[in-house]
Amino acid sequence: MYETQSDNQHPYGVTVLYGGSGTGKTTLLARAVAEHCQYAPTVVLDVTHDLRELLVGSQHSPRTLHPNVTVHYYTSLEGYEWSLKQWFMTFSAGDIVFIGPPEKGGDPSESIRLFTAILTSTKHSKRFSVYVCDEAELLFSNNQFSRQYDNAIYTARNRHASIYLAAKRPTRIPTNVRSCAMRAVVFKLRADADARATEELGPSELFRDRVQNLTIGKGLYYCGQGPGEELPILDSRESPIPWLETAPEVYSKRR
Ligand SMILES: Nc1ncnc2c1ncn2[C@@H]1O[C@H](COP(=O)(O)OP(=O)(O)OP(=O)(O)O)[C@@H](O)[C@H]1O
Ligand SMILES: [Mg+2]
Repeated sequence: MYETQSDNQHPYGVTVLYGGSGTGKTTLLARAVAEHCQYAPTVVLDVTHDLRELLVGSQHSPRTLHPNVTVHYYTSLEGYEWSLKQWFMTFSAGDIVFIGPPEKGGDPSESIRLFTAILTSTKHSKRFSVYVCDEAELLFSNNQFSRQYDNAIYTARNRHASIYLAAKRPTRIPTNVRSCAMRAVVFKLRADADARATEELGPSELFRDRVQNLTIGKGLYYCGQGPGEELPILDSRESPIPWLETAPEVYSKRR
């Protein structure tokens, strides 16, 4: 069930970002990740390399991660396990692990396998407090893992981890996963079925119309508002990220 608004003033729990192609999901996700990874070890499934380009930068764009953040890259489960063994690797606040194919546009299956292992195995999942998955439909395209994801998400929530799932099509995310979201940012959705799927969040009848009329970078922010309450609009570049405003304080108490 959706949790109440007062439970939402902390950086934990499941956050879903929905929106059609090019609506601003990765832009907002990158800002959330940049903030989170300063406080808690963060793992990111980034099959398109979009997040790493925004965060780590490239020839043409500067790094947006805090200079104290250390970046790690893995492309396969074997490579990851090998490096844990070889280097007695541990991850802490200030570490971010990117998982994706070696080449931009490469086959994502190995990266999905590794991210799934990290999220769902008790051996690996305890190493991280923040799990981020851009293009989250990919996780659920093979329903062999479905049950494991459910359990992993519940366990992570219970130990105050944060999970981010960004998807173009909410209808591709299983209903039970969608419904454990503590908050959602819904950008413009193109398919009517997808907009309808988000009505489960939408307290007002106007929700679907509002979703379909959003402009680029604008998302409706849902965090447990009651029926009839207005949902604020977040701008993926400009607005402060409401659930991260308390992060410095919350994480400093946890240490
Ligand atoms: N708030 C904003 N205002 C103006 N432009 C924005 C805003 N947020 C994102 N953009 C621009 O819109 C484009 C798409 O953004 P982004 O990559 O975040 O979308 P996306 O939802 O992740 O798309 P996809 O599903 O294709 O990955 C980018 O060029 C980005 O710079
Ligand atoms: Mg994107």
